[in-house]
Amino acid sequence: MRRPFIAGNWKMHKAPAEADALAEALKRALADVTAVDIAVAPTFLAIPAVAARLRHSNIGVACQNVAVEIQGAYTGEVSAEMLKTAGVQYAIVGHSERRQLFGDTDAIVGKKVQACFRAGLAAILCVGETLPEREAGQEETVVARQLEAGLAGLSADQVGTVTIAYEPVWAIGTGKVASPAQANDVHAFIRGWLGRYPSFVARNVRIQYGGSVKGSNAAGLLSQPEIDGALVGGAALSVEDFVAIVKAAAG
Ligand code: 13P
Repeated sequence: MRRPFIAGNWKMHKAPAEADALAEALKRALADVTAVDIAVAPTFLAIPAVAARLRHSNIGVACQNVAVEIQGAYTGEVSAEMLKTAGVQYAIVGHSERRQLFGDTDAIVGKKVQACFRAGLAAILCVGETLPEREAGQEETVVARQLEAGLAGLSADQVGTVTIAYEPVWAIGTGKVASPAQANDVHAFIRGWLGRYPSFVARNVRIQYGGSVKGSNAAGLLSQPEIDGALVGGAALSVEDFVAIVKAAAG
């Protein structure tokens, strides 16, 4: 059985002092949860404070992006190696906001996944179609293309450790959540796609759903057989909502 994995993507919210306070509140509220892997992704700036706060807790620290390169003249970038030394365990890669607003192409996302493995960060690879792509019935084609490029060059053993986050772009920050059945269908497609690797890969890879997940809709989504967790945006900034989502995953 795959262990549920709930991650909170704080996006560009919470300066260090506020991020520390949120981490502290979550640490207290979730201390007794043992059946779920939990992570939060603060901004780069707040990572040191949050990593210090969550050390020796059951909540891991994720980053929201990594540079392709290790170091050098790359103004504004932060490498996976640097993040690892700052206490980061997981890296969100290929988020649709990075793809749409900051020019992360499929090929760049693949290189960023490689950078995660090089540095020893656990990759959370985001995939998902836009509204026009869904309306044109292209969600599987788009997701397959993103998986192909995102996982290119990895060994089966490596792919087996990646988390995939299916985040339909039309459901992100819109309050328009995919129905449990709609999400499960794409998750099942992703698991089928992973069937090109030895069978342990599709069995082990966790597929999170992301897009307007809240305390009130989490149980319905997480009860689906192919949904192994959630990547939570807005609701991850609320202690009450995030705790409710984690508890829904704990069953
Ligand atoms: P929302 O939960 O705010 O829709 O955001 C989802 C997301 O983008 C998580 O990465």
